[in-house]
Amino acid sequence: MILTVTLNPAVDKTYRTGQLLSGHINRVSSMMSLPGGKGINVSRILRQYGQPVRATGFLGGYTGKWIEEKIGAMGVECAFVKTQGDTRCSMNIVADNGYVTEILEPGPQIFPEEKARFLEGFEALLQDCELVVISGSAAPGLGSEIYPELIGIAAAQGKRVILDASGEGLRAGVAAVPYLVKPNRRELEYIAGHSCRGQDQILEAAQRLLEAGVAYVAVSAGDKGIYLLGKQRRLFARAPRIKVVNTVGCGDSACASLAMSLLRGEPMEEMLRRAVAVSAAHATTLESGSIPIELAEQLYQQIQAEVL
Ligand SMILES: Nc1ncnc2c1ncn2[C@@H]1O[C@H](COP(=O)(O)OP(=O)(O)OP(=O)(O)O)[C@@H](O)[C@H]1O
Ligand SMILES: [Mg+2]
Repeated sequence: MILTVTLNPAVDKTYRTGQLLSGHINRVSSMMSLPGGKGINVSRILRQYGQPVRATGFLGGYTGKWIEEKIGAMGVECAFVKTQGDTRCSMNIVADNGYVTEILEPGPQIFPEEKARFLEGFEALLQDCELVVISGSAAPGLGSEIYPELIGIAAAQGKRVILDASGEGLRAGVAAVPYLVKPNRRELEYIAGHSCRGQDQILEAAQRLLEAGVAYVAVSAGDKGIYLLGKQRRLFARAPRIKVVNTVGCGDSACASLAMSLLRGEPMEEMLRRAVAVSAAHATTLESGSIPIELAEQLYQQIQAEVL
């Protein structure tokens, strides 16, 4: 069982339009609603691979209920704390010219009593899980200290944590030494405190995280591919050329793949090739959190990992 944590879920609405014009009325040609938030995306991807998943975090209102219904129907075991405020909606507006505009609501305020209930529940939820994936931002009121708190609780039970966050939450979380961290280049730069232009700078910044005790660092570099660093080896796998439709959530698909590989105890090379294949396949669909599994498998056969 994998436990996913989504601290600020969202109903993700994807709109398609010819062109997005700010300051004008925009009539979109289609709209699709999906349960979202990075941890929930990870859960949905894991379920597509048949992986048992328990999801926790905060949900509230009709939007929260809707998410619970949808992911429950996919076989995700839901263990969310109910909030007084409503779960947010997020908008991705995909234009024909390839531009994707995201409009993200802040999400409901989490009250101290709700946070306390969540932390208490988290300890119990961990017990029969082997791995925890903490993905995405925290709702207002939680503060960035929620990340080290969760990592500390999991570590006390000997559970491995994958962390995919950004900004102060990422910085605070990394200080609590998760097992694997998956920053994109921007997030790596945030932790490093400086820009990481070429491969050398990326590797140097990632290396510092290993020195701090993190077991694996996976740096996702968009259409370039993924760097995977462990104690003994540093690998890179180039992303395959595919017909890109929507790259929002590619990082989540990489995290889901890395989680499954860790659970299966796969060698690093396989773990990396799979993550690159699954995330590239993810980019070929409009729907975030959905993998064309056959394509992912074909790509996996083609992708090579090089030792750096
Ligand atoms: N255009 C692309 N072609 C092929 N693979 C891609 C493309 N874009 C992304 N990927 C794959 O997905 C991985 C994750 O993407 P990216 O680095 O953009 O993550 P991210 O910024 O965390 O995304 P998000 O937070 O929206 O999920 C990349 O490292 C790469 O392997
Ligand atoms: Mg990301």
